[in-house]
Amino acid sequence: MSERLEDIAIAMVAEGQGILAADESTGTIKKRFDSINVESTEDNRRDYREMLFRAEEAMKNYVSGVILFEETLFQKGADGTPLVDLIKAAGAVPGIKVDKGAQALPGTSVEKVTEGLDGLRDRLAKYHEAGARFAKWRAVITITEDTPSWNCIKANAHALARYAALCQEAGIVPIVEPEVLMDGELSSHTVDRCFEVTEWALKTQFAELYDAGVNLEGMVLKPNMIVAGQSCTKQASVEEVAEKTVRCLKSTVPASVPGIAFLSGGQSDELATAHLSAMNAMYDMPWKLTFSYGRALQAAALKAWQGKSENVAAAQRAFAHRAKMNGMAATGKWNKELEQAA
Ligand code: 13P
Repeated sequence: MSERLEDIAIAMVAEGQGILAADESTGTIKKRFDSINVESTEDNRRDYREMLFRAEEAMKNYVSGVILFEETLFQKGADGTPLVDLIKAAGAVPGIKVDKGAQALPGTSVEKVTEGLDGLRDRLAKYHEAGARFAKWRAVITITEDTPSWNCIKANAHALARYAALCQEAGIVPIVEPEVLMDGELSSHTVDRCFEVTEWALKTQFAELYDAGVNLEGMVLKPNMIVAGQSCTKQASVEEVAEKTVRCLKSTVPASVPGIAFLSGGQSDELATAHLSAMNAMYDMPWKLTFSYGRALQAAALKAWQGKSENVAAAQRAFAHRAKMNGMAATGKWNKELEQAA
């Protein structure tokens, strides 16, 4: 494959395909395993992820790239094959989560800033050598009565821009992920509040990327969709989410960005698919619009797997189904009947 950043970015958002986010940190994957009563050991994490990467139908047809946690980038499958080689053999690009997590932002009670810039240049060189051709850095922005603050928006956008510039210097495509969270207890966290905050975060983000000299043709944006908060009593329809998300992105994301790959953020599997499909079916857009889902792509497979080798085939089928549904959504061709047919 070409090593140009622009070509890697285009491959990451190839027609009808999207990104599998399998980069849960050790703490997050433990939570996922707790839900199926499986202990989070290094071998179990390996077995689970190897099961996903060996799911040929899903990987070859619908997955353009996989985001890994550092442990997985250097891990070998049960038979000694590096997991990275399984991903490459399926025609997908290996990627790596490089941030060190969101830490409390001084001076506020709920807000966070993502850390991990110290030593990042050296780590990126090591990751490139191990085969990673794209990276991810996630910032989180929390909506409450009195947040986000400008301090939080600015600090996170600045860190993301510095990260993105370092990635490009290392020959790695940055996924820029400023996530406006949908969780929280705020009943007044409406879809319009989400729009306003996301627009602010993205306007600030692209100004920072410009200042840092980031080549927009060699990056991928990973935003949240414009949805109401989980505790909001008034949830938006699929059409409203699609309309508001596309409108927000059109007013903030330059056309030179090749692709936008959404996070699922706690949406149900089917809604995450329905929203993406509606956007692609209803609107003309200058960028590719696809998925970079973690939970919404893995939940069914995790449940089917249950940590048992005899369930591997069933888990792979569950993963293939979800990947196919999202692959169709990436071209606007998904519909509810396809779910029922399966
Ligand atoms: P979810 O789709 O589960 O939100 O995860 C995507 C992701 O990579 C968040 O950084």
